[in-house]
Order: sequence, then structure tokens, then C-alpha cells
Amino acid sequence: MSSGFALGWFMRTVHILAAAAWVGGSIMYQFVVLPALRIAGPAPAISAQIAQLFKRLVNACIGILLVTGVYLMFDRLTQTTLGWLYLIVLGIKVIAALAMFVLALYMAQSNIRKLAKRSTRLSKVAPQLMLALGICIFILGALLNHLFELAIAPH
Ligand code: HEM
Repeated sequence: MSSGFALGWFMRTVHILAAAAWVGGSIMYQFVVLPALRIAGPAPAISAQIAQLFKRLVNACIGILLVTGVYLMFDRLTQTTLGWLYLIVLGIKVIAALAMFVLALYMAQSNIRKLAKRSTRLSKVAPQLMLALGICIFILGALLNHLFELAIAPH
């Protein structure tokens, strides 16, 4: 087993784990944590703590996804001749990922604005939009892996 293989395997595992933590965490947040908080009645101190800790998790995921994603991208592009379909899907995935990062940063900032009671329409749909983007990017990632395997399979 070469060290390149081990590093690639490690990067891919960490990439998938960070993606799963972010998307899975967002599903948990929207469909379990927020409804539970709503049923339990106003608890601003707990809500703020959860939001703060989740923000830290998301920030860590963004950093990890960026580093491992850029590694995977160079690794793939230098390994074999990939078809135009792979390149197009990869381009869409990277643009969507960057949009998701920007949206996350916007949300982190709008929490502060919400405290000032000036929530905009975008800040209300941002969590759903981010989750939808995350699921699309996840599907594109799995598609890329499939296309990559097709490209390296013996014909
Ligand atoms: C700038 C950010 C990102 C870059 C450059 C990037 C790049 C890549 C690359 C090159 C692959 C390998 C595809 C292949 O097997 O050929 C990959 C896989 C994947 N990515 Fe990303 N990615 C980024 C962000 C994200 C985000 C935000 C998510 C999820 C929300 C995500 C989820 C996935 C998944 C699920 C896979 C499939 C892994 C597999 O099945 O092997 N990525 N990514």
C-alpha cells in the first residue's frame, strides 16, 4: 500500500464524514431540535447555546471540506483522463459548495441581526436552502465517485 493511496483514502473518508456531519446535522437540527424547542416553549438560553455550538460544528466542517475537497480535486484531475461529464459535474459541485459556504457565513451573521429584530426574508429560508443545497452536493459527490470509477475501470 503506497503512502499516496493511504493519504487519498484518508482524505476521502474525512471528506465524506464532514459532509455527513453537516448535512445530517442540519436534518437533525431542522426536523428534531427546532420542533422540540418549539413544543417545549421559549427557552432562549438553550436555543442560543445549541445555535452557537452547531455553528462551531459547521465552521469545522467547512474548513475540513475545503481542504480535503481541494486535495481530492487535484488527486482526481492528475490521475487519469476524465471525461467532460466528470469535469462539468465537478464544476457544478464546486460552485454549489461555495454557495453553501457563503450561505452558512450569511446565516452565522444573520443570527446577530435577528437579535436586533431585523430578520430578512432570506434569513428565514436560508436554513432550508442550505439543507437542499447540501443534499444536492452530496448526490453530485456520489455521482462523481461513480463517474470516476467508470473512468478507471478496464474497458
Ligand atoms: C470546495 C469544496 C469542495 C470540493 C473542491 C469538493 C471536491 C470533491 C471531489 C474532487 C470529490 C471526489 C469525487 C470522485 O470520487 O471522483 C468529492 C466527493 C464527495 N464530496 Fe466533495 N467537495 C467539496 C465540498 C463538498 C461539500 C460541501 C459536500 C457535502 C455537503 C461534499 C460531499 C461530497 C461527497 C458525498 C462525495 C462523495 C465521496 C465518495 O463517494 O467517494 N463535498 N468532493
